[in-house]
Amino acid sequence: MRIVVLISGGGSNLQAIIDGCNQGNIAGHIVGVISNRPQVKGLERATQSGIAAYTLDHKAFDSREAFDDALAAQIDTLKPDLLILAGFMRILTPAFTQRYVGKMLNIHPSLLPKYPGLHTHKRALEAGDSEHGVTVHFVTAELDGGPAVIQAKIPVHADDTEATLAARVLEQEHIIYPQAAQWFCQGRLTLQNNTALLDGQPLN
Ligand code: GAR
Repeated sequence: MRIVVLISGGGSNLQAIIDGCNQGNIAGHIVGVISNRPQVKGLERATQSGIAAYTLDHKAFDSREAFDDALAAQIDTLKPDLLILAGFMRILTPAFTQRYVGKMLNIHPSLLPKYPGLHTHKRALEAGDSEHGVTVHFVTAELDGGPAVIQAKIPVHADDTEATLAARVLEQEHIIYPQAAQWFCQGRLTLQNNTALLDGQPLN
């Protein structure tokens, strides 16, 4: 399976996917990494692993549509079977999400449908939640709203801060994202009628 990973920053989830592929835990290989921000650490991680790294700075485009068109053009030259959004902090147009529906996954640091959008750890703390976590989901036109594939939960401790919570959630991200990618690459994970299926059985 040909995998393309979209990033905006540090790329620790990208690294988990790279490691998964290299260790044979994901039946695919990353054919390109694209960042919408220049000079981020994730691009370095790609280059260090011998993976083609591209920057497509969204600031160089007049509109969301123009950026998404250029992004799709770049992606399509790489002919991916699976698109992985790994800390890709851009709202995508419906035309873009429709183009890749059923083959694009995202990871979001909350127990969706709780806390779509930004500042998820802060919002969980402020709400006094006793548990928090992370969700991998198929990407649809709805922001952070596509069908869930897998979640990991962690307890919220009394002395947790945004930073401690984020760090413990990130550890879980690095476990569940490679798992979801492997299910997809094995052909076990599909999207049908807006429902995520694993081995033909609904996941939600
Ligand atoms: C991760 O926590 C990921 O869940 C989050 O950004 C971080 C990226 O870290 N994504 C979102 O908030 C998407 N809405 P990374 O660059 O180290 O993988």
